[in-house]
Amino acid sequence: MTIPLNYIYMAVGGMSLVFSFWAGYSLGLSSKKKRLDPAEYQALGEEFDVKMRELIDENKQHIRRWELMAKFISALGGVRDETKLASLLSRLIRENINVKYGAVLLRRDDNFVTAASDGLHVESEKSLQISVKDSLIEYLKTTQGIVVLGKMDRKFSAFRIKEQVNEMLVMGLKTGEELKGLLWLADKKNSQKFTEGDKAILEYLGYAAGNTFNNALLMNELESRAIKIVTGLAKALEQRDRYTRGHSDHVATYASLFARSLGVSKAQINTIYTAALLHDMGKIGIPDEILNKPGRLTPEEFEVIKSHPLYGAELLKILGFLKDELVLILHHHEKFDGTGYPYRLKGNQIPLGAQIISLADVFDALTTNRPYRDAFTVEKAIEIMKKMTGENFEPGMLEQFIEFIEKKMGQKTIEEQQELMGK
Ligand SMILES: [Fe+2]
Repeated sequence: MTIPLNYIYMAVGGMSLVFSFWAGYSLGLSSKKKRLDPAEYQALGEEFDVKMRELIDENKQHIRRWELMAKFISALGGVRDETKLASLLSRLIRENINVKYGAVLLRRDDNFVTAASDGLHVESEKSLQISVKDSLIEYLKTTQGIVVLGKMDRKFSAFRIKEQVNEMLVMGLKTGEELKGLLWLADKKNSQKFTEGDKAILEYLGYAAGNTFNNALLMNELESRAIKIVTGLAKALEQRDRYTRGHSDHVATYASLFARSLGVSKAQINTIYTAALLHDMGKIGIPDEILNKPGRLTPEEFEVIKSHPLYGAELLKILGFLKDELVLILHHHEKFDGTGYPYRLKGNQIPLGAQIISLADVFDALTTNRPYRDAFTVEKAIEIMKKMTGENFEPGMLEQFIEFIEKKMGQKTIEEQQELMGK
């Protein structure tokens, strides 16, 4: 059961009042050695009642601010993308402050430009910007303040928009000392002016938003650093076997380029790229004598090899930030006919990204040297893969992969493609 926040405030406030009255009364008794008469009791009761009402009113304001802040933090908390954050912020503010127009401007080079807006014409979105050198920005940088501009203010025209507005409110979104962005609002819906109450709420929200932007930035930085460390580890792992050197890079390049040719979203391509880089991470737990065994593996040894997708996903789960990638790593050895591992998933039960990585993995394995054979040519590898249709691979996907290799990759070597990708 949850108890509403305002009841807790009221209860705590009430108790502290009772305590202070009781304490005062007790001290009075001990110093003056006198008891209160009924009229004094009544007066005390009335005073208590008034104080309690004041406390409740005051607490209601605090509660509203804290509730909004909590709402904000929980809504913005999981978002890492700056533009998505700006868009959420703009919507939440419009809903809670009841304004006609709202926008969040973020710093891009020498200007603060609109990252998200609510209610504004598309042309206004583009024109709503301000130079970082503007004196208004200098002012916001050095203060915690909110600036409200009326039509008569000189700075009113600094923001050019198509809409006719009477009043603008500009607030800096700060992360520490840095002015990360601006919150811009114009005209209350009820034609009233911005109030001190609005400003107080905005200060709370602006603080939450500034910190969220900062956290998103820090998380992204931490994540990319962690990926670099893990990727380095994966590459170090490849050094254990000279035949698989560069394999992760190759698979990541093939898989992400193929995903792009299928029209997969940018976010998914990034997930596939990272998962492909780390797909064999679990081999770190496989003894050298099995991993590098020149001859055929015994069924027992093959069971050990089969543990690497699950082990890799579990190992990387400890990092805490990879999520969708882990699913692809876990399933990169599943086969279309359900004979793969570790879970013998069938057909479309296998995530698309895992199917893409599997195609890239097999193709790269076939076209590179192995201790027991030389690399196959691209044509021979395609011929071998065609025989796997309906077994290892979904027929349509395999067809598209072959087309991708023949038409798009065929013109360039993997190294040239990697260079183009800047990897
Ligand atoms: Fe693997």
